[in-house]
Amino acid sequence: MNAETTTVNVSTPGGDYPIHIGPGRLDQLHSSIPADATAIAIITTTVIGALYGARVRAALEGTGKRVIYVELPDGEAHKNSDTLNQIFDVLLQNRLDRKAVLVALGGGVVGDMVGFAAATYMRGIQFLQVPTTLLAQVDSSVGGKTAINHPLGKNMIGAFHQPVGVEIDTDVLETLPAREISAGLAEVIKYGMIIDADFFDWCEANMAALRALNPTAITYAIKRSCEIKAYVVSRDERESGLRAILNFGHTFGHAIEAGLGYGEWLHGEAVGCGMIQAAQLSQRALGLSADSVSRIAALVRASGCPDVPPALGTSRWVELMQVDKKAQDGTIRFVLLDRIGSARVQTVPADMLEAVLASA
Ligand code: NAD
Ligand code: GLY
Repeated sequence: MNAETTTVNVSTPGGDYPIHIGPGRLDQLHSSIPADATAIAIITTTVIGALYGARVRAALEGTGKRVIYVELPDGEAHKNSDTLNQIFDVLLQNRLDRKAVLVALGGGVVGDMVGFAAATYMRGIQFLQVPTTLLAQVDSSVGGKTAINHPLGKNMIGAFHQPVGVEIDTDVLETLPAREISAGLAEVIKYGMIIDADFFDWCEANMAALRALNPTAITYAIKRSCEIKAYVVSRDERESGLRAILNFGHTFGHAIEAGLGYGEWLHGEAVGCGMIQAAQLSQRALGLSADSVSRIAALVRASGCPDVPPALGTSRWVELMQVDKKAQDGTIRFVLLDRIGSARVQTVPADMLEAVLASA
């Protein structure tokens, strides 16, 4: 293992695996392929493939195993059953068996879709996550949530399926657009807000370095985020309790994404703005201090995410939030903070929610 590589271990009922974090990990991917793998299928998109496909192929061909390489169309619009079937077509045409390993090279779209393909091909095969966006490195590649979208709802068709490992090459962030970096930073600062007040303080002090991709700062932020995510999913893999706190800001954020049309705001941007609204609701429902609400809003702004919610209208906001997966019998449940670093899930009186939405 390269001296610059840090490892975080994830332990869940569905599997234990390492997350390797460091520069140049793309050239070391062979070390994460199980020895008994019969073949490797690298699955990526045209955009990511043009940047990193050749390097990843070279690294995995070094295993001496059969390597298949597939480029899919890029973007959230293709995270659907048509693209999933394209993956299955290639796997079947190449007669990949149950010991084949899929390699998901890309952002959260590729990771979720390839993970779901791995969960369902021949009733489940192994896969390796190689996340290339900051959001995927700190969130979606860890924890085993996999899914595709349905025309009637985002991520509605999916499975829990843990990868055999996560390989995070910090160098790949250099080619990521600044807007995508900000969207990933929203998920980073979320971990401080929900569970680790010291990490929140650290993010406040280091936001400029993070946005500039200072290697020490960004590596620490990824490592701490992965540690917190690993802690949460190891205690609640299937989201029957604690894991729901990872959705802080997401109830408002999902409403923004759906209300404006997917792709208008990036997922992380919507979550960033949604965390400010969730903090305002926390002030009313749990007495979160005004100073904490201001600090949360300032940190979201500093990350580069939007801080003013779109004017969707109160009834439309409520309608959109009712389809949230945390809702039960149409009752919306929110992740709220009683202080920075401490979160819980609960319902709120309608007038409190309306007061927050009225300012949107
Ligand atoms: P994405 O996968 O669409 O990637 C964003 C864009 O960045 C794409 O156009 C991609 O080609 C490009 N890109 C990726 N890596 C690059 C690089 N290194 N350099 C240059 N360009 C690069 O989006 P995302 O934000 O990574 O992921 C969003 C998806 O993740 C959503 O579908 C969301 O539902 C899912 N998600 C899943 C979980 C989970 O727990 N499974 C958690 C959060 C989000
Ligand atoms: N991104 C939320 C979760 O993994 O549960």
